[in-house]
Amino acid sequence: MVPGAAAAKVAAEYIRQRLGPDAPVPVCGIVLGSGLGGLADRIERAVRIPFSHVPGFPTATVAGHAGQLLVGMLGGRQVIAMAGRFHMYEGHEAALAAFPVRVMHALGARVYVASNAAGGVRRTFNPGDLMVISDHMNLMFRNPLFGAVEPGDERFPDMSDPYDAELRALLHESARTTGVPLQDGVYCGLLGPTYETPAEVRMLERLGVDAVGMSTVPEVIVARALGMRVAAVSCITNKAAGLSLEKLNHAEVMEAGRAVAGRFEALIAEFVGRLP
Ligand code: 6GU
Repeated sequence: MVPGAAAAKVAAEYIRQRLGPDAPVPVCGIVLGSGLGGLADRIERAVRIPFSHVPGFPTATVAGHAGQLLVGMLGGRQVIAMAGRFHMYEGHEAALAAFPVRVMHALGARVYVASNAAGGVRRTFNPGDLMVISDHMNLMFRNPLFGAVEPGDERFPDMSDPYDAELRALLHESARTTGVPLQDGVYCGLLGPTYETPAEVRMLERLGVDAVGMSTVPEVIVARALGMRVAAVSCITNKAAGLSLEKLNHAEVMEAGRAVAGRFEALIAEFVGRLP
């Protein structure tokens, strides 16, 4: 059975116990994408909890994903962050990939901040670019809400504005303050684990996709079903297949992630400090 709302309460209770009775409610939950885990080191007075300790969390993760929850202060605000995530390409159900969002919600977070490494489909995107996700396409062909409705979930969530307009504006303000260039675009989630063929990338381009990756969409769907406000940033780690002469490999994607990490961290720390 894939963990749902009841399991999220159990996980949240465990985390609360680890934090102690005086821990403030997190203003947001953040998931750090591939190569972006460095933000974890900016979280002050962090309580670190390995994924393997959290009830309902699966264990194995991909190399480069540290696999821990961190709770502490960022930009002067209490946050809960995940260094690493559960991808569907590992064999996880969409609902399991999104389970940490339920846990963050159960801990009181009402804003969900997603980040990911993504391939640039828009031809003007280059490795190192940061993109605010303005909308997404779910081409994973799975939905984390499939099945019996979970208590507290919307049965038919509206998806006309999944990425909160005010939070997007706040990201852009934070980008200006920190001097980080930031663009807007449409993210497409695919199942993976293969990268796309050039023909697939041409298809995505014609569909209006700006960046492509293997995560985030299930998490955002669950966040919206729970009524959370969502903000998301993609780090463009490479041009998608056929748009450059380079072949794709995971190590290079990770390396490019590390190269933008400083700008990404500054942006998110500033953004969290400005959250309503
Ligand atoms: Cl090119 N495709 C996908 N699906 N995910 C990626 C990527 C490309 N680059 C980084 N992550």
